[in-house]
Amino acid sequence: GDASLLTHALARDTLSRIRDVSTSQVSFRKGLVKLGRIAGYEIIDGAMDVEYVPVETPMTEMTGERVTGMDDVVIINVLRAATPFVEGLLKAFPRARQGVISAGRDEEAGMNDGGEFPITIDYVKLPTIREEDTVIVADPMLATGSTMCVVLDHVLNDQPEPADLFVLSAVSAPDGLIRVGEQFPEADLLTVAIDDHLDEDGFIVPGLGDAGDRAFG
Ligand code: PRP
Repeated sequence: GDASLLTHALARDTLSRIRDVSTSQVSFRKGLVKLGRIAGYEIIDGAMDVEYVPVETPMTEMTGERVTGMDDVVIINVLRAATPFVEGLLKAFPRARQGVISAGRDEEAGMNDGGEFPITIDYVKLPTIREEDTVIVADPMLATGSTMCVVLDHVLNDQPEPADLFVLSAVSAPDGLIRVGEQFPEADLLTVAIDDHLDEDGFIVPGLGDAGDRAFG
């Protein structure tokens, strides 16, 4: 898959605020919610169709517009940092079906020579995917991409290929985008920023630290 930037000025503004080390837990979480909402609107603008519908105003009849496909949206919450991010996405997609998957890097094992982490999966509950669905897999951080690749294996396993598949993150490292893009060419990778590099512990630099810890304390 191709990677593209979400370029809305408010998304970049909000990301810059939550990067700041002095941003409190509450503001950090609210920032992720806001980023999710903006990303949702951007996905609607870029990927969803609009149809004409008749509208009767208090004054007259007219032709109005409606976004189509809003009932065919699936959002996957990659615990735990994605929870506030998904809360924002749901403001854009109120009728989305939701999946939850708990996936974590085994930090003790560390990054291997190939730049990947072993991933532990603790909980998986996913809705059935339909061919007409727009599937959005949300995780604010895409570092090595190890987590996302394992998550996508689960999400796509034994399911029809959805009409659209978005991997949505706030901050990505080049390595993660390349890894996920190569393994899942059908996915569109969306991110607010592509940061410079990963450090030796697999953290994104400049990044925003550990999103789960900053949002949940
Ligand atoms: C973070 C982040 C991603 C993952 C990204 O989660 O939220 O899920 O790491 O790293 P990767 O691209 O190298 O796999 P973490 O494992 O810290 O779990 P948490 O959200 O529970 O803190």
